[in-house]
Parts: sequence; C-alpha cells; structure tokens
Amino acid sequence: MLTDILKSALSETGIKAYPRSIMRVIGALKQTGDFWEIVDISDEPLPLVAYILKKFIEKGIVRAKDNELVLTEDLEGEEFHVHRCIECDGRGVVIDDFRKEFETFMELQKNRPPAIRDYDQGYVTHLTTFSRIAVADQKGDLRGKDVIILGDDDLVSIALGLTNLAKRIVVLEIDSRLIDFIKKVSNEYGLDIEAVVYDLQKPIKEDYVSSFDTFFTDPPETIDAFRAFIGRGLVTLRSPRCAGYFGLTRRESSLDKWIKLQEILITEFRVVITDILHNFNVYVNWDYDMRAFELSPVDSKPKTNWYRSSLYRIETLEGFKGYNDEITGDIYVDAESSTT
Ligand SMILES: [Fe+2]
Repeated sequence: MLTDILKSALSETGIKAYPRSIMRVIGALKQTGDFWEIVDISDEPLPLVAYILKKFIEKGIVRAKDNELVLTEDLEGEEFHVHRCIECDGRGVVIDDFRKEFETFMELQKNRPPAIRDYDQGYVTHLTTFSRIAVADQKGDLRGKDVIILGDDDLVSIALGLTNLAKRIVVLEIDSRLIDFIKKVSNEYGLDIEAVVYDLQKPIKEDYVSSFDTFFTDPPETIDAFRAFIGRGLVTLRSPRCAGYFGLTRRESSLDKWIKLQEILITEFRVVITDILHNFNVYVNWDYDMRAFELSPVDSKPKTNWYRSSLYRIETLEGFKGYNDEITGDIYVDAESSTT
C-alpha cells in the first residue's frame, strides 16, 4: 500500500524514502498530532516527512483536523522508547561550573540582534551554548587555547569569553549587527574578543591560517556549504590533533547526505570524527518565514522547540587539509533544506 510513496518520494522531493522512513513517521504520528513534533521525533528530513504526511492525507490514512494530524487506522510504526537523562537532557554535560557566567550571559543576551533570514540565522538555547563550552572544555580544547568561531549566531564567543578559559578568541561573522553586539559586550565585560565582519564565501585571510587550536562553526547544510565552512575551519587549525566543532541536523539532512558529509571529512579532509552528540543543539524558534511553512501539510506554527542538531567533534590527523577556495553562486539550498 505504501510502496508508491517509496517510489515517488525521490522524484517528487529529491529525497530517498526508505521503508523505515515511513515507519518512523507512523510511529511519530502515534505520539503527537503536531507536524513539527512529528519531524522532531521521526528524525527524517522535513520535506520528506511533509511529503509522506500529504500522501497519508490523500489516502485517508491521516486526517488533518484543526491543524492536528491523526491516524485513522492502526498501522504498524516504529516504536520510540526514550531513556534520555533528564539531568543533562542527553547532552552528557552539566554547566554547574559556569553557573555565574551563565546567568550573566542570560542577562546580556536580552539585547542581542534577532535572527534574520538574510543570513539563514537561527540560534540555539543559552543552555546549548554553554553546554558546548562544557563539552569542549571536557575535551581539553579550550583552556589556554586559541579558539576561532566562524559565524556566531549562538554567541559562543561571549560565553567562552565570560568563562575566561581561552587564550585567544576570534570571531568571523558576516552580520555586522552581531559583530557590533559582540564587540560592545566584549568591551563592557573585558572579554578581549577579536570580532571581525567577514564573509566566509571569501577565502580565510593569511592572518588566520594555521593559527588556532580549536574552531566552532554551524554551516548551512548543503554539501558545498558544508565543505566550504568546515574546510575553512580546518584551514585555521595549526597542526594535527586540533579540534573542530559543528552541528549537523536530521531535520534538513538525510542519512544519505550524512554519509556524503562523513566521506568528505574522512577522505577529503583526513580528520577523524571523535564525537557525535545526538540532538545536542536545541534551536529557539525564529520569527521569519521559511520554506518549511510552505511544505507543512497543516497551517500551524511550531509550539515547542523542534529544530535540533547533533554536535560533531572532529580532530585533525597528520596530513589533514581544509578547503579555502572562493565560493560563488548560491550554495545554501538543496532539496532537503527547509529553514531558508
Ligand atoms: Fe545526564
């Protein structure tokens, strides 16, 4: 009965559907009628989930009533059993050692510039930002180290500055509103952050090449953007056994894309993936319009935080390389994108 969905999904959406994709959407439907939560729970790309749900509605398997999606038949779906630690919400770290800095951060970020569509922005919860610091500190990637942040929607630079762990903090960010904000906070609190307006489509300048121990970035999730942003991060690292952190979501990246990205990391860049922390990054819902609203089978806005991504940590090995070619053209959208 569902074989036609499996057949048509790729040509209709550009994303391959597996029997398990459908099973996971059915399983999620048994837990919630909210489209955004179904995307979150199923861990399948949003455009594919939207397509499957629309097909279900056409077939009468699902009814959309008051923007709630309800199964009309008892279909077999994947069962989800959650055993996540409530103390750390599955992140594996607590931020007790940074409690004071966290409170300061909570207060000062109230004046941060809002996320805008121009730069595909959307930022994570404050707890996520500080948990990143905790993870990177636990890994030995911060204390006394030179740290660079490529794109800083999440204000990692400020959190890191407040903790006073790093020797040097540099931020390259295209949005001058954010750079101004980071500079202002840095001055006010004596954080010594070097914040520079920088278009990452341009190659990394000589001043920043091979100069850092650790980078953070959060690339748009197309193959080309991923290669460019992670590649630039790697260009800034000074030697083997340096570390990089970035997010990769399931909302906009299928496992078929994940494997391509992992291939780039391993075969092109020669870095090792040391950690993948599932759903580590939790994003605050943003205000601007996005493709996801057009794709959604119902007319509802997210009520809970539904956009999450995994935190990747990579480490360079002997012979590692980056990517520093100039980027031209639009490399930020693919079939799986939904938040641009
Ligand atoms: Fe825990």
